[in-house]
Amino acid sequence: MSVHPNPGPAAGPLLKVEALRLKFGTREVLKGVDLTVRKGEVVVLIGASGSGKTSLLRCVNLLNLPSHGKITIGGEAIYSANPAARDGNGVPLATVNRIRAQTGMVFQQFNLFPHMTALENVMEGPVTVKKANRDATRREALDLLAQMGLADHVGKYPRQLSGGQQQRVAIARAMAMHPQVMLFDEPTSALDPELVGEVMKAMLDLARSGMTMLIVTHELGFAFEIADRVIFLDEGQIVEDGPPRDVLLRPTHPRLKSFVGRFHETADLLRPFLEGS
Ligand SMILES: Nc1ncnc2c1ncn2[C@@H]1O[C@H](COP(=O)(O)OP(=O)(O)OP(=O)(O)O)[C@@H](O)[C@H]1O
Ligand SMILES: [Mg+2]
Repeated sequence: MSVHPNPGPAAGPLLKVEALRLKFGTREVLKGVDLTVRKGEVVVLIGASGSGKTSLLRCVNLLNLPSHGKITIGGEAIYSANPAARDGNGVPLATVNRIRAQTGMVFQQFNLFPHMTALENVMEGPVTVKKANRDATRREALDLLAQMGLADHVGKYPRQLSGGQQQRVAIARAMAMHPQVMLFDEPTSALDPELVGEVMKAMLDLARSGMTMLIVTHELGFAFEIADRVIFLDEGQIVEDGPPRDVLLRPTHPRLKSFVGRFHETADLLRPFLEGS
């Protein structure tokens, strides 16, 4: 059950990851990952701790440089590793800053600038990196903060905001760069339980607005609600990829079965669907 307007058969791949491998020293943590995300699609990545979820997101915005493979965003090859290179790393095909601007990343720990207000945090990227017009950027930042339900908090500093509010500022800040894809790495896992819902709601609204999103989360109920597709990563490889109903309710891989089974609250939440299907 997708919250997302159907992108339709015409929607081509926006993000394409091909045969991606990543090594830390001699240890290979991504072992040939192929992944396609269409424009407007919401894909949730799940997997055990250490399976490579964060590493994969970090490759997509070049915080990690893959040892092999190719990443394409909007038809432009942003990275193509040259396995013949001595250190195993290839050369980015375009400049790193421009590529990073194609993706907006939201981290577990918000990472806001503590000495800047919410509004200044959101304006910082467009004004300093993109040299955008200050007045236009300000208007847009105010709009984005309002969309995140923060119209009354634009002048506050991070320390004056709750974790949920800070995370919504972080989402607005990433959106201000007009990314083609939004990447989320466990955006709710550092929050007090009562603040998780407001961040999920903001992400659901973003999904409904047509944003292309790649999300790492351990909240399987949320994954079920927001995802067009769920991908299970196991030891650096994708072992299941499909609609949430299939991956979460009818897992086939034994480790996915036990992974899904561990989440009792989620199992309770999904039971009505299980019984009805
Ligand atoms: N900078 C690094 N140097 C060396 N090893 C690393 C580095 N970053 C990650 N790893 C290793 O790569 C593997 C994958 O880590 P990654 O952080 O991608 O996992 P994850 O699926 O995001 O896990 P979690 O659910 O705990 O966040 C782990 O074994 C980790 O120890
Ligand atoms: Mg991680």
